[in-house]
Amino acid sequence: PFRIDDLKREIIDGIRAVAGNKQVVCGVSGGVDSTVLAVLLHEAGVNVRAIYVDHGLMRKNETEEVQNNFHRMGVKIETIDASERFLGALAGVSDPEAKRKIIGELFIDTFWDAVGNAEMLAQGTLYPDVIESASNAKSKASKIKTHHNRVDRILELQAQGKVLEPLAELFKDEVRALGASLGIAHDILWRHPFPGPGLAVRCPGDITEEKLHIIRECDAIFIGKLKEHGWYEKVWQSYAALVPVKTVGVKGDERSYEWATSLRAVISEDAMTADWVELPYHILRETSHRILNEVKGINRVLYDISTKPPASIEWE
Ligand code: XMP
Repeated sequence: PFRIDDLKREIIDGIRAVAGNKQVVCGVSGGVDSTVLAVLLHEAGVNVRAIYVDHGLMRKNETEEVQNNFHRMGVKIETIDASERFLGALAGVSDPEAKRKIIGELFIDTFWDAVGNAEMLAQGTLYPDVIESASNAKSKASKIKTHHNRVDRILELQAQGKVLEPLAELFKDEVRALGASLGIAHDILWRHPFPGPGLAVRCPGDITEEKLHIIRECDAIFIGKLKEHGWYEKVWQSYAALVPVKTVGVKGDERSYEWATSLRAVISEDAMTADWVELPYHILRETSHRILNEVKGINRVLYDISTKPPASIEWE
């Protein structure tokens, strides 16, 4: 029978064999894969630097939560606060692909600036990512969106055998099982996926601090409600996006002219297709009530009932 502890030992031995006493750097995002990766490297006792780049596009309190989570696990991470750099570069840019390109390139630059002359790079690539990048190279699908975790510089390193991908044969459920056997907390292992470009893909048009603040507040209320009612782990991914269209409303005794937020909750197997979730109305009602009462700048709450395809999961 398949034993997760045997797998863990095998992977840790593999890491030791390849890394030896070389310095290994890895990026951590707070997500499942990079967290399991960092903890594995830590367990293997290799000389590791785990780097967390805060691009200023994280959710409410996310950076603090990621820092606390790693602290709890006894794994040291270096936080690079690059939010000014990212938001500065993104100012006034509204084309989705241009935004992605800026974020992707800046991310790599920021990461490598921090890394300096590390000898090896570790990545939390999973088996489906391996398949996806192999088929992407050949298909037009790669043109739809440029995912930023596979860029030329990393491919170069890979060619030199300097990239460690200890999770490359595993599926997500196996990574979670591995994470649990490493003692990683349940809530970390069951976090919804969060895209590399962060809230940028949930903020159509140009990005401002004000818009990000609104998205963070709406998102935190929605996610909080899903957790409160036991729905968070029933859905694959959920979030609030900003719809930067002003419409007329009434707040107090006054006419308001404010933006809308769109809530999205989907189920999916692999993110290639997705279906919207028939959330109980009372959850939507409570969420909408709180958002409309508490979030300045929003006077309309929408629920996204679009399947993928034709819609994508994110807005950009
Ligand atoms: P879409 O919007 O393409 O999203 O239906 C599919 C899944 O991928 C996530 N996503 C990304 N993840 N870098 C990532 O690491 C990205 O650039 C990126 N874009 C989308 C998205 O959150 C969803 O889970």
